[in-house]
Amino acid sequence: MKSAPSVPTPSSERGSTPLQQHIAKAMAEAGGWLPFDQFMHLALYAPGMGYYSRAHAQSRRIGHMPSGGSDFVTAPELSPWFGQALARSVAQALKVTGTRRVIEFGAGQGTLAAQLLTHLGDAVDHYDIVEVSAGMRSLQREALLAWGPKVNWLDAWPQAARAVVVANELLDAMPVKLLQRRAGVWHERGVTLDPLSGAFVWAERLTDLRPPCEIAGDHDHVCEIHPQAQAFVRSLAEHWQQGAAFFIDYGFPEAEYYLPQRHMGTVMCHQAHRSDPDPLQAVGEKDITAHVNFSGLALSAQEAGLHVLGYTSQAHFLLNSGLLEGLDAAPLAEQVMAMKLVNEHEMGELFKVLALGVGQAWLPMGFERNDRSHRL
Ligand SMILES: C[S@@+](CC[C@H](N)C(=O)[O-])C[C@H]1O[C@@H](n2cnc3c(N)ncnc32)[C@H](O)[C@@H]1O
Repeated sequence: MKSAPSVPTPSSERGSTPLQQHIAKAMAEAGGWLPFDQFMHLALYAPGMGYYSRAHAQSRRIGHMPSGGSDFVTAPELSPWFGQALARSVAQALKVTGTRRVIEFGAGQGTLAAQLLTHLGDAVDHYDIVEVSAGMRSLQREALLAWGPKVNWLDAWPQAARAVVVANELLDAMPVKLLQRRAGVWHERGVTLDPLSGAFVWAERLTDLRPPCEIAGDHDHVCEIHPQAQAFVRSLAEHWQQGAAFFIDYGFPEAEYYLPQRHMGTVMCHQAHRSDPDPLQAVGEKDITAHVNFSGLALSAQEAGLHVLGYTSQAHFLLNSGLLEGLDAAPLAEQVMAMKLVNEHEMGELFKVLALGVGQAWLPMGFERNDRSHRL
């Protein structure tokens, strides 16, 4: 049921970067059109060329200020109080599930790992990292030298993992598929090359793919679906025997995700601490993200035999995990940054925490008050 797009030959790509040429070549090999998830994957992770793959000490991607060369900030980079509070929940999970290993996915610059290792101390014997980008891996190695052989990088899932899993802002960095309803007909949105300018432009094809729920109204609508993030959760279930997992990210439950007013979707780019909605410009120079559909993840987890142990806002999770303990004795500037983690208009409400478990279900401290699992 696919309508054939016109297949422009890649232009000579005057002024285009090696990454853009690499994507244009992949596009030509695929018949002139790449679905958006493949485009996003190459833009972020093409070895040696993608946005994350090229990260290095002078181009660290994640930090407080554009003057330091960064494009955006994440919770552990904003405040060490994030890792300290999360460590209490991780320590509880290690104890309850009888494990002494942590696996972090998508560890960025190693900042959260350093915070967790500091606060977990002897409670953890092994801290394993799964990181897709060589550039980020080398930044992590530098940041975590002090912990020596306790920290290891895994190239693949360990068989029968017994571990507490953590991932902050991993899922929003996973490639998404884009769907577009136009005049009532669903298309998959992809990318092609404009034959005249050689620029990347949007191109749609008819598709049988659909969002996971009806979108009210008959207006034109663009939205994401998240097959890669859901496959990731299924693969967690396949390889995991014991432990708990904490996924922290921005997003919504399905009923909020696919609201008619979100008709432009949630794909967003970040460069020099400014956001824009156009991933086809400055490819490789900026981060590309999409919000997480937490209901879809929870459903994939349950279908694969895992439990949802809790779901709530980052604010409730961190407060339940003791964020405020000792904070009043910290310097004021530190208190201000820590409060950004929980303020409703900053990271407190948009960011959520989803905890999954294998084996016996139990209630982690982060969800003791204001668990919202029923909203998934
Ligand atoms: C937005 S950054 C977040 C970094 C860090 N967790 C933080 O909070 O500062 C996303 C990270 O996930 C990594 N990543 C993306 N997809 C991945 C995957 N499938 N497996 C492992 N790492 C991945 C990226 O390379 C990057 O290090």
